[in-house]
Amino acid sequence: MIYLDNAATSWPRPENVYQAMDRFLREKGGNPGHGSHSLAAAAKETIDDTRMRVARFINAPEVERVVFTMNCTHSLNMGLKGLLRPGDHLITSRLEHNAVVRPLRKLETQGVAITRLAPSPETGVVSVADLEQAITPQTRLITMIHVSNVNGVIQPIEEYGAIARKHNVPFMVDAAQSAGHYPIDVQAGNIDLLAFSAHKGTYGPPGVGVLYIGEKVNPETMCEGGTGVFSESDEQPEALPYRYESGTQNAVGICGLGAGIEFILTTGRENIASHEHALLNRMIEGLSHLRGVVLYRAVDTDRQAAVISCNINGYEPGEVGVILDQAFDIKVRAGLHCTPEAHRCIGTFPKGTVRLSPGYFNTEEEIDLTIKAISSIAKSKN
Ligand SMILES: Cc1ncc(COP(=O)(O)O)c(C=O)c1O
Repeated sequence: MIYLDNAATSWPRPENVYQAMDRFLREKGGNPGHGSHSLAAAAKETIDDTRMRVARFINAPEVERVVFTMNCTHSLNMGLKGLLRPGDHLITSRLEHNAVVRPLRKLETQGVAITRLAPSPETGVVSVADLEQAITPQTRLITMIHVSNVNGVIQPIEEYGAIARKHNVPFMVDAAQSAGHYPIDVQAGNIDLLAFSAHKGTYGPPGVGVLYIGEKVNPETMCEGGTGVFSESDEQPEALPYRYESGTQNAVGICGLGAGIEFILTTGRENIASHEHALLNRMIEGLSHLRGVVLYRAVDTDRQAAVISCNINGYEPGEVGVILDQAFDIKVRAGLHCTPEAHRCIGTFPKGTVRLSPGYFNTEEEIDLTIKAISSIAKSKN
């Protein structure tokens, strides 16, 4: 079996992630923060430890500003709905995932004005000048995807952050496809809100997300409840991270995220990235010579993450996905990837594309077998 769907979720997980989660459930599985016995304390310690690792990983100025959520979608909703009110203006791109598109559509019906910036048709990058021009006195938030989950184009978030700070507008980044793969420094990047899931580039399990909340923003809460602290009050605590973490945390999942980050640090983020890029370049090289195969990717290789899309003339993307799975045991994702506007921008709406996203555990041999498989599918109709 060849797994090339790491943009959806990473697979397999590093061995230490499996082991840490197994050990956690057997040895530390109390309710974190909701009890003072040793099992509850061990669970809380694990969460605190992961929070510290995440904070260091993104250079958060204070550990408490790292909030654990259910997933990146949850984190993005918290930022958008927590900050925007009727009459406000927001700037975003046409490359966003439905995790941003749909909450924004709802907020739009409630009176939030939205500017959606198109990427350049040549480079796939949203222009910094366009962003600056779109800012109005009503602009309350800028939210941008870091890496496109369709063609892997890396957007210049540091430059967007500088513009946002210059105009004193809060800046949120959807780092679903970049966290773990690329260095992200929330302080240097002027990022006020950073959202990602544990289960992609940081090798954790599904069911855990992160929202970094900077000191310049104070989103309204979307959920209130037990925090294990300040229990005497019937009001949600103001203190971070409790303000945003109601109910029993997914401690085993958070433990897995901590182990995933440990794996990245011990393996070396650059070693992981360089292996993934070597595989991707091999794939691009192999596929770009095939008749009938169209690639969707960054023109500037420095702006290419380890995600590309392709289509084969004469086939629907869904058909290719099924053939790759059933005839070759190769797992890819076909369709719109929850990102319809991005497909409109690259001309692949409504059928979408076949997405190929290698990860650290793939090998050159697997890439060669995938190229061969796509070549044989293409040959039958081209
Ligand atoms: C760019 C982007 N943003 C947000 C998400 C949502 O992540 P999750 O489904 O883990 O909430 C994804 C998931 O694929 C994504 O690729």
